[in-house]
Amino acid sequence: MANTIFVLNGPNLNMLGKREPGIYGGKTLDQIGDDCRKTGEALGLSVDFRQSNHEGMLVDWIQEAGASAKGIIINPGAYGHTSIALHDAIRAVQPLPVAEVHLSNIHAREEFRHKTWTAPVVTGVICGFGPQGYIMALHALAARV
Ligand code: DQA
Repeated sequence: MANTIFVLNGPNLNMLGKREPGIYGGKTLDQIGDDCRKTGEALGLSVDFRQSNHEGMLVDWIQEAGASAKGIIINPGAYGHTSIALHDAIRAVQPLPVAEVHLSNIHAREEFRHKTWTAPVVTGVICGFGPQGYIMALHALAARV
């Protein structure tokens, strides 16, 4: 099996570049995907980079990763704060390593962003470093593959 890492992006992340650039920066999701693929290549990882606005699609992709990938990086977007389904999906693929990434420092923002249902079931969380967080997560997973 190739060393494939699924990089999954949740709702509204397709709007990056236009969406609240003061918080999320000016890079588009396509640019972040390109950076991830380049870093993956250097680390010997094949990056499968995806985005969906639909919770069930993210659940399907987590299950698919459980069957065919070596790890997951997930920016669950707002679903991180609301979704027991994502929590359960990640539990169901354990012990697959999972890195949760948020561009912004969710702890420095509104209180409703401080907690994610995904954090207790992932391997680790990176937040507040912008798109660099995805690159950090790839390095962290490469060390486990
Ligand atoms: C986010 C933080 C979430 O609170 C928000 O709903 C997002 C993006 C981030 O990357 O900083 O959509 O996950």
